[in-house]
Amino acid sequence: MHSLVVMPNQPADSCIFVIFGASGDLTRRKLLPAIYNLAESGHLPASFAIVGVARDAMDDAAFRTLMRERVLHAEGEPLEADKWNPIEQRLHYLHGEFDDGALYQQLAQTLAHLQAEHGLPPNYLFYFAIPPEMFGTVGRHLADAGLTHEQDGWRRVIIEKPFGYDLASARALQAELAVGLQESQIYRIDHYLGKETVQNILAFRFANGIFEPIWNRRYVDHVQMTVAEEEGIGTRGAYYDRAGALRDMVQNHMFQVLTLVAMEPPISFKAEDVRDEKVKVLHAVAPITEDDVRRHVVRAQYDGYRTEKKVAPESRTETFAALRLFIDSWRWAGVPIYLRTGKRLPKRSTEIAVQFKRAPYALFRQTMVRALNPNVLLIRIQPDEGISLAFHAKEPGPFEKLGNVTMDFSYSEYFKAEPSTGYETLLFDAMTGDQTLFHRMDIVEAGWRIVEPILGTWAKDSRSPVPQYDPGSWGPAEADLLIEQDGRAWRS
Ligand code: BG6
Repeated sequence: MHSLVVMPNQPADSCIFVIFGASGDLTRRKLLPAIYNLAESGHLPASFAIVGVARDAMDDAAFRTLMRERVLHAEGEPLEADKWNPIEQRLHYLHGEFDDGALYQQLAQTLAHLQAEHGLPPNYLFYFAIPPEMFGTVGRHLADAGLTHEQDGWRRVIIEKPFGYDLASARALQAELAVGLQESQIYRIDHYLGKETVQNILAFRFANGIFEPIWNRRYVDHVQMTVAEEEGIGTRGAYYDRAGALRDMVQNHMFQVLTLVAMEPPISFKAEDVRDEKVKVLHAVAPITEDDVRRHVVRAQYDGYRTEKKVAPESRTETFAALRLFIDSWRWAGVPIYLRTGKRLPKRSTEIAVQFKRAPYALFRQTMVRALNPNVLLIRIQPDEGISLAFHAKEPGPFEKLGNVTMDFSYSEYFKAEPSTGYETLLFDAMTGDQTLFHRMDIVEAGWRIVEPILGTWAKDSRSPVPQYDPGSWGPAEADLLIEQDGRAWRS
């Protein structure tokens, strides 16, 4: 049962957390700070150790100093000694090449040694915070070294995105991992599912009786989701230029959020029940034809992208994507879903707007009311997390005049929650064996199946120019047209 339902007041299972890619950005910015936050909230296992593995030569002492600095930086305030010191004392480091079998023999010895020294059970959580092309190699070596075989304790692997580059490569990677790992041992992480506001979508829909009856094609006019980023690609040119917005954001994060918005109520909050309903949404997405791609999918590149570091000077990679799709289910048939994401947009903002059908105007014909705006339920994922509902109210005065007002719920005002990295829940869940918030392989495949026709058509249209947009704008004019041709508009 997922922590959404039962937030256990107890620590996760005792284990050894092994991070491949321990000298990288993710480890210092997210993973270690998340471990510290878990210690603060009392969710870190009572007996625990961390082994960092990376190529850089370093000893335990240097690794500890480095991690202390980074966590301190992430926290922005002095670390509580009783929380940090026990973590620090159990931080270890191994260096070597990921494709060298000797590294894994050494790792096996280190793990055996730590178990004996600290009386730890042989539960291992491996985190692949490494370049995607290494996922299969590390998985295979772990299996060869006998480290994935669950004979006494549990063995789990957390894999970062992207899981494959398309359907075929995702399947090939899966085949490589499956040599040593069962599906129940593979945790394909999506950090969007660690965000409180994303998890809250299920609570909002299914713990409140008033929304579900109107959450369908009879009442909903359309759904739009925007994931806007102000930043460009920074130093990630080598990765990003191969990926692009569709692979980087749409196929995973946005589809995941969409499944939560659109899924049927699961029969329970058990991982398989939730994931069964999520995958059905993706299976129900109407196949996108070449013609659809040309008319209802927009790609664009921000001006200046081609001169970013490690980006090909002739690159056609999209830094912006917008698309319209339909979910062919009893609930959603005929309701357009508009998705839009991009880098170097005017602000950082992720939100989902569920726009309801307009009320009939007839009653107001003889009044000063010119038009009725539709009701909109806005789920703000970040920043300024919250939910608001826009509706009409009569303005005070002798005339019939309507104003647009909102009922607003703000997370930070209501729950005075501590800031988190978003990785806390996901690490805790992996340590307790809860796969609800992780992608199952059929979900990954379903996501690739939806975007493949788009990627295929773009590859064919390799002569037509990729529209450019000004940094700081809301993308190209084509993206506005995409929704305006249906008589609708983006919310900002
Ligand atoms: C990552 C993408 O998965 O998500 C990045 O690779 C993107 O390109 C990031 O910037 C956005 O995450 P967040 O949590 O800042 O919205």
